Amino acid sequence: MTEYETKEYDVLVIGAGGAGLRAAIEASALGVKVGLVCKSLLGKAHTVMAEGGVAAALANVDEKDGWETHFKDTMNGGKLLNNWRMAQLHAQEAPERVKELERWGAVFDRTKDGKILQRAFGGHTWKRLCHVGDRTGLEMIRTLQDKGVHQGFDVHMECCVTKLFKDGDKISGAFGYFREDGRYILFKAKAVVLATGGVGKSFPVTSNSWEYSGDGQGLAYDAGADLIDMEFVQFHPTGMVWPPGVRGILVTEGVRGEGGILRNNKGERFMYKYLPESTKDGYAANDEEAVTWVNAAIAGTKTEARRPPELSTRDNVARAIYTEVKEGRGSPHGGVFLDISYQDPERVKKKLPSMYHQFKDLADVDITAGPMEVGPTMHYTMGGIRVDADSQMSRVPGLFAAGECSGGMHGANRLGGNSLSDLIVFGRRAGMGAAEYVKGMSGTPKISEGDIKDAIEEMEAPFKRTDGKNPYDIMKELHKAMSTYIGIFREEKDMETGIARLEEIKEMIKHAGAKGGKAYNPGWHMCRDLRNMMICSEAIARSALSRKESRGAHSRLDYPDLNDEEWGTVNTACSKDGDKMKLEHTPKPEMPDELKQLFVKKKEAASV
Ligand code: FUM
Repeated sequence: MTEYETKEYDVLVIGAGGAGLRAAIEASALGVKVGLVCKSLLGKAHTVMAEGGVAAALANVDEKDGWETHFKDTMNGGKLLNNWRMAQLHAQEAPERVKELERWGAVFDRTKDGKILQRAFGGHTWKRLCHVGDRTGLEMIRTLQDKGVHQGFDVHMECCVTKLFKDGDKISGAFGYFREDGRYILFKAKAVVLATGGVGKSFPVTSNSWEYSGDGQGLAYDAGADLIDMEFVQFHPTGMVWPPGVRGILVTEGVRGEGGILRNNKGERFMYKYLPESTKDGYAANDEEAVTWVNAAIAGTKTEARRPPELSTRDNVARAIYTEVKEGRGSPHGGVFLDISYQDPERVKKKLPSMYHQFKDLADVDITAGPMEVGPTMHYTMGGIRVDADSQMSRVPGLFAAGECSGGMHGANRLGGNSLSDLIVFGRRAGMGAAEYVKGMSGTPKISEGDIKDAIEEMEAPFKRTDGKNPYDIMKELHKAMSTYIGIFREEKDMETGIARLEEIKEMIKHAGAKGGKAYNPGWHMCRDLRNMMICSEAIARSALSRKESRGAHSRLDYPDLNDEEWGTVNTACSKDGDKMKLEHTPKPEMPDELKQLFVKKKEAASV
């Protein structure tokens, strides 16, 4: 029998971004034994790619802000498909979680009177994003990492989990390997928290780095959990488009929050023409009003002027840029122009230091002197593992999920800045939920020898396929299928072709082979990652085909309208049914009347 090391924990947290770290800190503080697994090195997480800020209604800059408005903005941004309870908890608890980060050492930018400074972001009524220049996610990870290290839980770095184990219906542990040398490890655990982030690696142009292959979603699906609302994939409107090696890297929404203007190759400020009728009232009607708003923001003074049109929600701005490019009004490298060079260069460098260096070092562009070229990049999945809003437990007892790999909180479209707040609110809740679950347990769930043997065999199989397919070639095929057939705009015929192609690629994955030894062997790792990427890609494609309307980030050319009557009350849910993926439409949790009242406009209240 192949050797493996064994570790035993009450709670195993898989993923060490904002949600995983926050969950581990909470569970450990509640007195249970915690192990934390990260696929790469501690401190390297997609959390750092949420640059522009963490959303919390502190009302430091706009004193009219409060949790109710944040809740409403989040629900409206998500086209009311959000799990209302998650959106409520998120809006209510985010301010305390941000203040807690500050107590733990996070150094936020300041208002003149010493409070945490907040900036504007798309879809947020008030200036709500607490930030550290354009390095907010980085500062959050640094703070949580410091706190976590002192909390004293075990950390397993460069470790990848490949299987979850159950005793009957309950979670009993996990199996994995170390990327460095291929050593296997068995984790005995009474509860598992998944916090593995998204599935950007299923797409060719993404802000995500190599770790984001939908591992948590794949593991949960295999263990019997539901994946909900997977059709809602967020394309961040602004990623770098040039040079080719950096295509997709994030250009923070903070640029637009600080007054950045989008123009096409005719010099037109095109966002005015893409504002949906239903939200037009909230945005400046012309340049004069937009300039007044920006000048007031720079001076830190009040104004009645409305936000610039570039601060429309991400789904809308991404579609607008895509359309401008498709209709021939794009920039030389297939994007549009984002310009903040009309502002004082020293202010630009102070507010957006990372963007300044990113463009200077990677593209030889000085953003204080001229525009950037930007285009949509796959950034985030709104869908994910279905969880209970309060405890974050999935339908598998002992299996919890938080952050991007969980679903429900953001509905059909996430507002920028709501991911960082999501991580700390629900990371804490998942840690708490898991610790309480463990404390309430009698006995220790078992892992069978047969299950361990199967997990090892699955990992060894790619080495036995002497004529196996190159996993990177398969990944390219997956990229092609997802970007061609299931992109920003979707249509039935394309998606059917896409799903048929995914079925073929699924067969290829079964024959993916690895050569060489186990010591740092990315080809071998990719053979396993592809399985999770495929589960998520299939769930995205099947859910998208099934939802016959356009809502938030899901835009159908053949069903261009939002259809509340038929689709406003259901979530899509994918689950494992033998070898097949089962798709259902399950009722969305019903919002209580007192919250419905917050939606003052009749139309809004009717569709909640
Ligand atoms: O644009 C950004 O800084 C990203 C923020 C987010 O995804 O929340």
